[in-house]
Amino acid sequence: MKKLFLYWFLFFLFSNGYAQTTRSLEQRADSILRLMTLDEKIGQLNMETGNWDATGPILKSGDKIIAIKNGEIGSMLNVKGAKNTRYIQSLAMQSRLKIPLLFGLDVIHGYKTVFPIPLAQAASFDTATIRKVAEVAAKEALASGIHWIFSPMLDVAHDPRWGRVMEGPGEDPFLACAIAKSMVEGYQKPQHGLHLMACAKHFAAYSAAIGGRDYNTVDISEQTLQNLYLPPFKAAVKAGISSFMCSFNEINGVPSSANRKLYDILYNDWHFKGIVVSDWGSIGEMVTHGYSKDRQQAAQQALSAGVDIDMESYCYTDFLKKLIQNKSIDESLIDHSVKKILMQKLALGLFDDPYRYCNEKREKEDILSPENKAVALNMARKSIVLLKNTNNLLPLKTVRHIAIIGPLGNSSRDMDGNWVVLSNQPIAVTLLEAVKKRFPDATVDYVKGCEIQGSDRSNFEAAISAAKKADVVLLALGESWDMSGEAKSRGKLTLPGLQEELATEIYKVNPHTITLLMGGRPMIFNKIAKQAPAILYCWWLGTEAGNAMTDVIWGNYDPSARLPMTFPKEMGQIPVFYNHKNSGRPPVDVKGNYSGRYIDIDYKPRYVFGYGLSYTAFRYDNIKVSHDKDSITVTMELTNTGNYDGTELVQIYLHKKWGEITSPVKELKGFQQIFLKKETSRLITLKVALSDLSYYGVNSWRSASGDYTLFIGKNSDDTIYQTDLQL
Ligand code: NOJ
Repeated sequence: MKKLFLYWFLFFLFSNGYAQTTRSLEQRADSILRLMTLDEKIGQLNMETGNWDATGPILKSGDKIIAIKNGEIGSMLNVKGAKNTRYIQSLAMQSRLKIPLLFGLDVIHGYKTVFPIPLAQAASFDTATIRKVAEVAAKEALASGIHWIFSPMLDVAHDPRWGRVMEGPGEDPFLACAIAKSMVEGYQKPQHGLHLMACAKHFAAYSAAIGGRDYNTVDISEQTLQNLYLPPFKAAVKAGISSFMCSFNEINGVPSSANRKLYDILYNDWHFKGIVVSDWGSIGEMVTHGYSKDRQQAAQQALSAGVDIDMESYCYTDFLKKLIQNKSIDESLIDHSVKKILMQKLALGLFDDPYRYCNEKREKEDILSPENKAVALNMARKSIVLLKNTNNLLPLKTVRHIAIIGPLGNSSRDMDGNWVVLSNQPIAVTLLEAVKKRFPDATVDYVKGCEIQGSDRSNFEAAISAAKKADVVLLALGESWDMSGEAKSRGKLTLPGLQEELATEIYKVNPHTITLLMGGRPMIFNKIAKQAPAILYCWWLGTEAGNAMTDVIWGNYDPSARLPMTFPKEMGQIPVFYNHKNSGRPPVDVKGNYSGRYIDIDYKPRYVFGYGLSYTAFRYDNIKVSHDKDSITVTMELTNTGNYDGTELVQIYLHKKWGEITSPVKELKGFQQIFLKKETSRLITLKVALSDLSYYGVNSWRSASGDYTLFIGKNSDDTIYQTDLQL
């Protein structure tokens, strides 16, 4: 009789009951929860990799097919493609309660259409295009059965040795908040009646790893945590993000996987209602951290702190039942997490149709479409930073004889960068391909000159000879795709191998050399910075890399990007960042005792945050600043005085002169991109919300008040205008 009732109830639930019911998600989740055994509940808290292209060390072997059919797995990662996800989902449909699986994936900068790496996108300062990029990435993922993407990565980073700076928004929390909002809105926008769950990661302060070594210890003040690292995560919650992923690191002795303080902020201060997933194996790693006595205690600590899903450490599946039996945790704790997961699955419509996200037809139409590539090209052009342009060498006009030199001149895989979903099928347009296509009648020579790494100079002569013969040289240098990313910390940020030497030889023989630097982080290239006539910083630009570079080189697009991270001059300066404090004895340029300078190296970086040139020039007139109880208003007349149409990034920085705690010397608090045709002007208005000036003081949040200096600058160092304000 009991069994009969169960079948009837399941029929009601999955055939028409759920589709038509008007009951709230919560009530619906409750009714499913009531049917579940403890084992089935624990299964929902378990996420496993599909074993295809694992993105972490595989800890367990075993038959996943049986585990899915037994309801022992609630979500999977690294399963992709409509066919695969459909098949795996069909296994879940053979489980007792037919609870659909969630499929999660690291769609970090695009699914099949690869966009510039997130740090490059941040350089665009163009939040509307970033939103569009997220929307397209979501559209492609949605077509192939993915419900959940592990992005945006919101780790504000001050240390370029850390390889994961490539995945993030750069060094400034205000820019990071704007990016967080755009990405969440773009990813989670409903498309074809479907929507993705985005995931804010890595919660928190992962980038503050000591020495820039991945996964390393983090020891920071409460103020640094609250004022620098947490704001983008709060912005993601405000934008309605569905999920969070915790970070691998500890903060001040407590790993993020069980850091109650973090989850208190997330759930109680920010009222986050979504789900939290651990990072890969991070719950079990609390034993190695020396925090948990064993994996059983790790499971107890993580779940009690608020981590709902265990990704690939199997601590929940191995120990939660035992922890309930010995009364170390209450089953209501498990119910709470399971209910949140069920609510997400219900909201995605998976109980109505578990296969609604796997659609081979949409997969063909929506992936790598011409429209998607157009978005990739637009984003790539907007991500390129012009660092140097002696005698206005750029944009180029000459097209008769071009030499492309350097190991990155024709490397499709490197153009995609790290963290690409379909890395085995690189399709990025290289510089060589783009130049040949653009100028079919020109002579285009390509010589590698040297490899990215290594000490073989046997190809130098050929490169020098090609450079001598050409009207113009495009010199493509930098990191290979696998030199930035997870576990890719570097202790030397100079260009690898012989590349800088090669550059020096080329500059000697051809003064019309454009240097294109590519990589996932700020690098150190002092000789190039001094000797090169023109430098474009191109990061890793993705599918449309070559086309974007040639558009900028030949002036179809005026470079509008600005650096989202400070570029050091010397390794010994790291960490070096613009939003630092003053100290009582700030460094001074003159030699002498008792200032905060180095005695053996310069203390100033190579390029500052917000730096970047344009082909045209802008003049700022009639600047006026006023304020009321809610905001500061800045008005000005901006004129494009140069010879090209172009985009200026107006940057507003504030400094709080004194207060309950000291403040950074400058903090970005407003920016706006203004496109102006040449020889035209526009009146513009920027607002700075006073709420954006609030800060965490000695032990609580403080609102804006007191004495400030406001700066309007072309970058964080070059001030056009400054005024004092009393708020
Ligand atoms: C570990 C990485 O830290 C995280 O960013 C990623 O989402 C997971 N692996 C899953 O691949």
